[in-house]
Amino acid sequence: MQQGLQTSCLTGRRALVTGSTSGIGLAIAESLAQAGANLVVHGLVDAEEGQALAQSLAEKYKVDCHFLPGDMSDATAIEQLVQNAQIALGGLDILVNNAGVQFTARTENFPLDRWQSVLDINLSACFIAIRAALPAMQAQGFGRIVNIASVHGLVASIEKAAYVAAKHGLVGLTKVVALENANAGITCNAICPGWVDTAIVAKQVAARASRENITEACAQRALVQDKQPMIRMTAPSAIGDLVRFLCTDSGQTLTGTALPVDGGWTAQ
Ligand SMILES: NC(=O)c1ccc[n+]([C@@H]2O[C@H](COP(=O)([O-])OP(=O)(O)OC[C@H]3O[C@@H](n4cnc5c(N)ncnc54)[C@H](O)[C@@H]3O)[C@@H](O)[C@H]2O)c1
Repeated sequence: MQQGLQTSCLTGRRALVTGSTSGIGLAIAESLAQAGANLVVHGLVDAEEGQALAQSLAEKYKVDCHFLPGDMSDATAIEQLVQNAQIALGGLDILVNNAGVQFTARTENFPLDRWQSVLDINLSACFIAIRAALPAMQAQGFGRIVNIASVHGLVASIEKAAYVAAKHGLVGLTKVVALENANAGITCNAICPGWVDTAIVAKQVAARASRENITEACAQRALVQDKQPMIRMTAPSAIGDLVRFLCTDSGQTLTGTALPVDGGWTAQ
């Protein structure tokens, strides 16, 4: 069997992945567990569903896996989530800030409460989680922080004022945390995906299909084609595998970056 990234390179590492009950977060959790990391999965599902997911990952990958809830728009809940993850796993080596939401409207029509919640969940939650996780990482001299930003952390699209502002902010936050911890054994990077085939995109596909009276398959192709030279969505597992690489010893000097995984979107 091939050794290295595929198997046990993260054995014994302890990871919290926010928003990991679906989509990209679940793929990240699977990729880390496959490499041997013990995990806390987290998301908006009910406790029974979350615990069943944790149990299935634990059995599949022979790792320790727990489910913890926590609303990422509530600062106290985020601090408790980090603290409870540290207690459940006996510490924390890896923090992946993945939970995120989208809302689209032109700026002049953007509801204030939606602006606030997109900023809270996509940006402030990452700051609060990082702030809570850093002291123990600094004390142990090891940490890997990965923020799932977006191409919208690097470039803009219409009707995404809050999302683009939040993701640009997240790329900036990533750089500050990387600089402040450059000699503390801690790296901090942002991943900037283009289109990834998940539920967050499904709404935009459905809206385009209904607006243009076309099938969802045609709508998905049209959405991708508008932005990406490569007319295919990225698989969630590809983001999971990149997170895993960043968490290995090979990633120890890779810090402060914003890595596009975008089919050439930002190369144009
Ligand atoms: N799918 C894409 O094309 C794409 C592209 C670029 C970036 N991203 C980013 O990837 C991340 C994951 O998105 P996804 O595509 O997997 O979407 P998704 O909707 O499948 O997953 C979002 C996750 O966030 C969690 N979440 C949302 N609001 C929450 C809240 N208030 N409290 C706690 N958890 C909450 C959900 O439970 C879910 O697990 C997001 O940050 C998103 O912005 C996605």
